Amino acid sequence: MNILDIDKQFVWHPYNSLPSKTKILSVKRTYAQTIVLEDGTKLVDGMSSWWSAIHGYNHPKLIKAIKKQSKKMPHIMFGGLTHQPAAKLCKILAQLTNLPSVFLADSGSVSVEVALKTAILYQKAKGKDVSKFISLNNAYHGDTLGCMGVCDPKNSMHTLYGEYLPKNIFCDIINIEDTIKKYKNHIAGVIVEPVVQGAGGMKIYDPKYLKIIRKLSTKYDLVFIADEIATGFGHTGKLWGCDHANIRPDIMTIGKSLTSGVMTLSAMCTTKNISNTISNSSIGVLMHGPTFMGNPLACSVANASIKLFLQSDWKNKLKYINKHFKKELEPLRKYNIVKDIRYIGAIGVVELNSDKYAYKIQDLCVQKGVWLRPFGNLVYSIVAYTITKKELYKITNAIKNAIKNI
Ligand SMILES: Cc1ncc(COP(=O)(O)O)c(C=O)c1O
Repeated sequence: MNILDIDKQFVWHPYNSLPSKTKILSVKRTYAQTIVLEDGTKLVDGMSSWWSAIHGYNHPKLIKAIKKQSKKMPHIMFGGLTHQPAAKLCKILAQLTNLPSVFLADSGSVSVEVALKTAILYQKAKGKDVSKFISLNNAYHGDTLGCMGVCDPKNSMHTLYGEYLPKNIFCDIINIEDTIKKYKNHIAGVIVEPVVQGAGGMKIYDPKYLKIIRKLSTKYDLVFIADEIATGFGHTGKLWGCDHANIRPDIMTIGKSLTSGVMTLSAMCTTKNISNTISNSSIGVLMHGPTFMGNPLACSVANASIKLFLQSDWKNKLKYINKHFKKELEPLRKYNIVKDIRYIGAIGVVELNSDKYAYKIQDLCVQKGVWLRPFGNLVYSIVAYTITKKELYKITNAIKNAIKNI
């Protein structure tokens, strides 16, 4: 039986019907920035697998790390046990984030759940019974229920779940100061994606607002959660999105590129103040424990990926990628269908006036040998930092060709 026939019968794809109403491509293998389809077609990857594969696919150092660890110990429970790959990873994350208390989890959404729980427990430990958060319009923080409660409520995929979702407070970033002041006694904290809002609209905002959130969170003892799952590890041109404002949040969530997409892994990093306050209170513990927490294969690959990242010339590479997006995408403003062009770090975005072209554009790009996955009215590319000049041109030329031809 053909893979696509099996897929049609048994496989439910993300944000999709079963069988899928849209075309599914079958992938045979990957290497560097290339996706090879079953029929031998090669596509340059303009998505880096949803912001994760920062070093491209099948990087030999990452494959080596996972092979080596698989011979020693692929998995061990983390309750009551520890191991070298996890300890090493927590130490390096503590250094990189300047947040020394690290909780490992298994996906971005789970680390956000843990962050929300930690903030609530911290406030409880201080005698404050508050469990609501301020979040932003257009926010996206994951698909599990707690996460959906801090995603933009107008986002259609979340309105479907109605009363089941936790109710929180939403505002535009420009109103963040007034909103915090208004709700300061009723909330546990504030959660934002620093500088770039990703899946909720690919919107870029002024880092000065992060400084405002930092100042007010300190003043009113609110927990400032920076969700760096998408923005982390250089995606915005700085190590963390928060670095654009030179601030440190109280909690940071990290995922996606943590393992360069090789294994699923995430982390919640926080301050000693927060971990000590919870640990020394009558609550005493952080009530969360995923089965695959601290998976040794994932931690080993994360350690190797971070080492590669730190040894690379990522800052200059990101500058080059950003310049390319600017030069090649700006001229698209002349088309009536184009509403806006945005770019920061390794991210280039073309916002259209209509959301009816996403699949047509995807098809046109595939015809030109490029993998992109537009959503709604957004055509965007997030590339691996190992991308070549030729591949970058291929991606932006495919976008240009698609915009011209729809
Ligand atoms: C900012 C942000 N937070 C959380 C998530 C959820 O991560 P995961 O898909 O690994 O659960 C995402 C995923 O796109 C994200 O962009």
